[in-house]
Amino acid sequence: MNGTTNQPTVPRTWLITGATSGIGRELTLQALENGDAVSAIARDTAPLEDLVEAHGDRLLLVRADVRDEQSVRTAVERTLTRFGRIDVVANNAGYGLFGAVEEASDAQARAVFDTNVFGVLNVLRATLPVLRSQRSGHVLQGSSVYGQSAHPGVGLLAATKYAVEGLSDALAAEVAPLGIKVTLVQPGMTATPFLSNLDVAAGLDDYDPTVREVQKGIGELPPSAFSAAARIAEGIRTAVDSPNPPLRLALGTAGATGMRTALEARIADLDGWNRVTDAVDR
Ligand SMILES: NC(=O)c1ccc[n+]([C@@H]2O[C@H](COP(=O)([O-])OP(=O)(O)OC[C@H]3O[C@@H](n4cnc5c(N)ncnc54)[C@H](OP(=O)(O)O)[C@@H]3O)[C@@H](O)[C@H]2O)c1
Repeated sequence: MNGTTNQPTVPRTWLITGATSGIGRELTLQALENGDAVSAIARDTAPLEDLVEAHGDRLLLVRADVRDEQSVRTAVERTLTRFGRIDVVANNAGYGLFGAVEEASDAQARAVFDTNVFGVLNVLRATLPVLRSQRSGHVLQGSSVYGQSAHPGVGLLAATKYAVEGLSDALAAEVAPLGIKVTLVQPGMTATPFLSNLDVAAGLDDYDPTVREVQKGIGELPPSAFSAAARIAEGIRTAVDSPNPPLRLALGTAGATGMRTALEARIADLDGWNRVTDAVDR
């Protein structure tokens, strides 16, 4: 690693949250296999210990909960002590809450924001000073097809991902002059433990024809409806390797189609109601 120049280094140093499982574990594996160094952040690092045997000092396991700002700051300090710099921050940790907007309890709604939004902010506040001082770095923000679209049952999950998208639009413009890139990672359905880690709200009968029907439909999806986490990680690495990475990276055709439909509906509202819109100016 080469200290604090503003040139991205190859091999790179990654800081990856949610590295124990699914997309985060695949990203960790592929970065290591590519010769990069990884600081793998997890609440319990035991599931990653097998990788230390294979990759030695290029893998640092750090125990931290993204909801706990101090533990994240300590994780970043340990990363710098080991590797001296951070080139890629993968803000990947997160989980889903399923249920109608009305069904989710206050505690469930706040908890999912605590990890998926305030966790992301904790990681940003701890890592951006490092990236700013380097005048380089790439922040990967864990979004989703639900960062741009939503259907019954995913209102609270989508609310967290829309929040990450909104703050990232501003963040990208704020840090671009400082040499830092931002990419929102938007996977569609991916074969990971995500569905088994879902928090599910208690049901109200009135939402059976919408929310429970969607839930049933997701439960009946064939394995072919889910992208492999390894493919998602490959897509992310392609963006990280690019000199011009996108602000938004859709990963998976079905998710991209869903987002396109949602965007077209927004354009249709803008166009269909433009007389009312413009009348306000007169
Ligand atoms: N799978 C999909 O279909 C899909 C689609 C779109 C977007 N995504 C997004 O992709 C990201 C990764 O999800 P995945 O599919 O790989 O699911 P996953 O296999 O369940 O992995 C989630 C990871 O997040 C970690 N995590 C959760 N809460 C945490 C906390 N408070 N502090 C630290 N780590 C925490 C988990 O660690 P523990 O082992 O400690 O629980 C786990 O390593 C998420 O942001 C998710 O929203 C997934």
